[in-house]
Amino acid sequence: MGGSCEIKDDYAGYPLNMFCVPKHYEADLTDIMIPAGLINDRIERIARDIVQDIIPQENRGIVVLCVLKGGYKFFADLLDKIKQLNRNSEESIPISIDFIRLQSYKNDKSQGSIQVIGGDRLENLKGKCVLVVEDIIDTGGTMIKLKELLAKHEPKCVKVASLLVKRSARNCGYKPDFTGFEIPDEFVVGYALDYNEHFRDLSHICVINENGKKKYAVAS
Ligand code: HPA
Ligand code: MG
Repeated sequence: MGGSCEIKDDYAGYPLNMFCVPKHYEADLTDIMIPAGLINDRIERIARDIVQDIIPQENRGIVVLCVLKGGYKFFADLLDKIKQLNRNSEESIPISIDFIRLQSYKNDKSQGSIQVIGGDRLENLKGKCVLVVEDIIDTGGTMIKLKELLAKHEPKCVKVASLLVKRSARNCGYKPDFTGFEIPDEFVVGYALDYNEHFRDLSHICVINENGKKKYAVAS
């Protein structure tokens, strides 16, 4: 799918006091990078791109695989919009859902290896067309390892939708099939993206500041 919504490196974001941010996070954020309403509008379009891409290839249905926990908001909102298209169009695709839980981050650093720490049995994916729904691609390492893991269970096809892709020197060159926004190399939180499990209760995607990183740091 061509193009991406690119947020440039010199983009300053929106001041926190221009939108509603929980009081308990006000001191921990630099700015609002992507307000919730804009996330929602972009997801509406990604849903359309996905349906238009997948229907001609696979009318027997897809498994939408949510990568927990960070992917849950994107997954829920994307699925709502795909379902909306599905019930209003001449052609529709049956959808089933599945979950996988991975862990690879402590503080703002990737741990290198991924661990599957929960979810359904991956054997169920055999012969299916799988749409993986992820919150963010940073180094690309997690997604490459996840795709290797999924391949062992012989799905018919695997496509990846990631809400965010970071422009990072650490990225190994991996690009998902569907991207919400390409963002600068900053640690972002909110809309289910976390920093050591904090900030999932923030609606907008925001940039965490040094104060927030320190306040919510865990021993590494
Ligand atoms: N925010 C939250 N989780 C992440 C990020 C980020 O910027 N990069 C990789 N995982
Ligand atoms: Mg995460």
